[in-house]
Amino acid sequence: MPNISDTSDGLPVFRMASEAAAFISALTAIRPEVAIILGSGLSAVADVVVDAVNVRFTEIPHWLPTTVSGHEGLLSLGHLAGIPVAVLRGRLHLYEGYTPQEVVFPIRALHLLGVETAVLTNAAGGLKPSFMPGSLMVIRDHIGLPTLAGLNPLTGPNDDRLGLRFPPMNDAYDPELRQMALTVAEQKGIDLAEGVYAMVGGPNYETQAELRMLRTCGADAVGMSTVPEAIAARHMRMRVLGLSCITNTALSDAAGDSSAPAADVPTHEEVLRAAGVAAHHMATLLSHMCARIS
Ligand code: HPA
Repeated sequence: MPNISDTSDGLPVFRMASEAAAFISALTAIRPEVAIILGSGLSAVADVVVDAVNVRFTEIPHWLPTTVSGHEGLLSLGHLAGIPVAVLRGRLHLYEGYTPQEVVFPIRALHLLGVETAVLTNAAGGLKPSFMPGSLMVIRDHIGLPTLAGLNPLTGPNDDRLGLRFPPMNDAYDPELRQMALTVAEQKGIDLAEGVYAMVGGPNYETQAELRMLRTCGADAVGMSTVPEAIAARHMRMRVLGLSCITNTALSDAAGDSSAPAADVPTHEEVLRAAGVAAHHMATLLSHMCARIS
């Protein structure tokens, strides 16, 4: 398995991502403008892509396979609302043992293919008491515990062809796209809140004490992905939209009161089921947004 953070073997990240982009561009004349990365259980969003050309992650040079159930490991190139898109049915996670650089390889390759907008979706546990399973949240900002602590895709020599050594993360989630998502959701009668996403390393779900800490720090939802891709995308000056599907009530609203009802005991099956139910709302939202993003 190649280690794309290793730039000493004659295959630096930029070259490897360029090779992946060249392979994809030889497969189809579609030149995607928007990349949509689908999180756990959200693969059905890809069903609304028309005239899709599908390719397995493992067929693309240097692109690593996903090992998680609910992640198909397919890249679909096609059109959504007439806009050329690349949809990743599944993503790579730190908890699979991938490095942060490996996790962001797909978004880098797609940017080199010409994609300027990244839509990052995920399944997440709700921390805000009003967040019910099945509801959607547009990400206003993030707290990346692994990336803050150095498990960061930008660690290592900076490739100036990709971006700055010290990129800012102010408004990492594009304010205009966030507003567009809220407007479209309102028009379509889709319940969409805005909030802060906290990333943890996983793969275990969090303790209630950990969740209370995240809530105290201002997080509204918690998950195990998205932040590395958002950082890599902003490093390359892409526009980023983040969408979380709340799949479970992670935190009891007890705030430490042991007499209050317990939170869900989360399972991956429950997460996949809830995401599957919400996927059609996400598909509606994304297809109506796509026409406006371009
Ligand atoms: N915690 C972390 N990741 C998740 C959760 C959760 O409760 N639900 C879905 N992904």
